[in-house]
Amino acid sequence: MGNRSKNLIIAGNWKMNKTPKEAEILINKLKLENKNPACKTVLCVPFIDIPVAISLTKNTSISIGAQNCYFENYGAYTGEISAEMLKVIGVEYVIIGHSERRIYFNETDEQINKKIKSALNSGLKVILCIGETLQERQNNIIGEKLIIQIKNALNQVAESQIANIIIAYEPIWAIGSGRTPNKAEINHICEIIRNTVLNISKISAEKISILYGGSIDSKNAKEILAQPNVDGGLVGGASLDIEEFLKIINCVIN
Ligand code: 13P
Repeated sequence: MGNRSKNLIIAGNWKMNKTPKEAEILINKLKLENKNPACKTVLCVPFIDIPVAISLTKNTSISIGAQNCYFENYGAYTGEISAEMLKVIGVEYVIIGHSERRIYFNETDEQINKKIKSALNSGLKVILCIGETLQERQNNIIGEKLIIQIKNALNQVAESQIANIIIAYEPIWAIGSGRTPNKAEINHICEIIRNTVLNISKISAEKISILYGGSIDSKNAKEILAQPNVDGGLVGGASLDIEEFLKIINCVIN
């Protein structure tokens, strides 16, 4: 896979952080100082920040994503937001299946599969998160866990839509912990992920984007992003600090 051409993507997942005013300040700074338009930047912001984020990033290389959606288009689902509603206001990406949603909100593989289909049918690109727990890592079942998660997530997804799914490999134990797998492990696991998708869909390897997420910062980004099977990063904590986030985006060219 070493000769694949990469279209690098750096996505920030703000999680439940930043008011619209704070979002405005951060995005204005990002627009001024982002020296790397070749790297696709996606900001996955809280729902209430989406309108300001979209209006500030029109005609830039920055795209806006949400962090979740519901799988029905409309109806009596108090508190939910549909993929269709996100699409109508200009959202391009949606994170689905983040481990925090799986753990704190009991999201199942079946619900994640429904959300993915709904998002794709609405014309959104999906950032599907998968990853193993520390226990699964210690039991040497990382590959098995990820393959099951991918197969369940992509169940009956039309082959023509699979290229609109970006997979983010996020080991749960690495999220917010300051720890990451080593770069060779990250590369190896992203290769397993790519091969799994290739087996399911028969689309070309170039069309599959795989991000790494979990404690990416300005110190480790360059070597992680240089791995042949890694097409970019999904950045949590470090995306909230604009200087740190810019260093991660810009390290790709230096
Ligand atoms: P951290 O970068 O804070 O570890 O979070 C990663 C993450 O969960 C991104 O979705």
